[in-house]
Amino acid sequence: MSEESRAAKEHSPLKSIGEWEEDVLRRYPESGKTPKAKEEFRNYAAPPRATVREFYRINHTYQTLEFVQQKKKQFLSLNRKNMSTWEAMEYLNTLVDDSDPDTDLSQLQHLLQTAEAIRADGHPDWFVLTGLLHDLGKVLCLFGEPQWAVVGDTFAVGCAFSDKVVYPEYFQQNPDDRNPAYRTRLGVYEEGCGLDKVHLSWGHDEYIYNVVKGHLPEEGLYMLRYHSFYAAHREGAYTYLMNEHDKRMFEWVRRFNPYDLYSKSPVPPDPVALRPYYDALIAKYLPAKLRL
Ligand SMILES: [Fe+2]
Ligand SMILES: [Fe+2]
Repeated sequence: MSEESRAAKEHSPLKSIGEWEEDVLRRYPESGKTPKAKEEFRNYAAPPRATVREFYRINHTYQTLEFVQQKKKQFLSLNRKNMSTWEAMEYLNTLVDDSDPDTDLSQLQHLLQTAEAIRADGHPDWFVLTGLLHDLGKVLCLFGEPQWAVVGDTFAVGCAFSDKVVYPEYFQQNPDDRNPAYRTRLGVYEEGCGLDKVHLSWGHDEYIYNVVKGHLPEEGLYMLRYHSFYAAHREGAYTYLMNEHDKRMFEWVRRFNPYDLYSKSPVPPDPVALRPYYDALIAKYLPAKLRL
């Protein structure tokens, strides 16, 4: 194990990155389902695990504006690997951690289930493809990045931290919280400047958005780029940084979210059977090789 991946592991308290998503589900349980179905799905009554709290402590402490800018410089040159979309999905699936095989879906299964649920509801094909791609950015873990720089609810940096973000108390540990230029409501931004000008905490959303930018309709790109921005799409925070276009596009981010959280099906999807459909869909929109 390299020095870098050892450091990443030491700063990765979650047993698996799926633990973050489990906690999101605990915070945002599916509404309108019978209690029985809910119980079959997840145990919502369970308190947040200590590992999840520790994860957020680290995430909120180290995600500064400078860190985000440095990560963009480091990763958005997209010069690490060239692989087809399906190869990238299989590569992501090699992510091994201490997850519980009985409760945790593989990454590939989560992508296929999300996409299949969107397809079953009769949505346009680019929406289905967005579901298939949405977590591909987690390959950052395979590039040696620690959990807190790959997953977790995202939030704006360079302006005051929102108390609508989970565990806001941990932002007190963030050096930007003591920086007079960053700690005001607007910080380095202007009212209604538009989210494209705003730096969010770094993770798999911004990364996959950049990988497929230019190949999907804008609605799909918004879903990819902001799907972990729960404070905005679930809590209504940060509207003062959005422009009117962002606000309209966030309707699509909200439409996507239930498929990400609630599409767990009793029978895991069969990648072999589904492959021809997805190969054709990928070929319709994406280049033969993705630059990661
Ligand atoms: Fe995600
Ligand atoms: Fe997901």
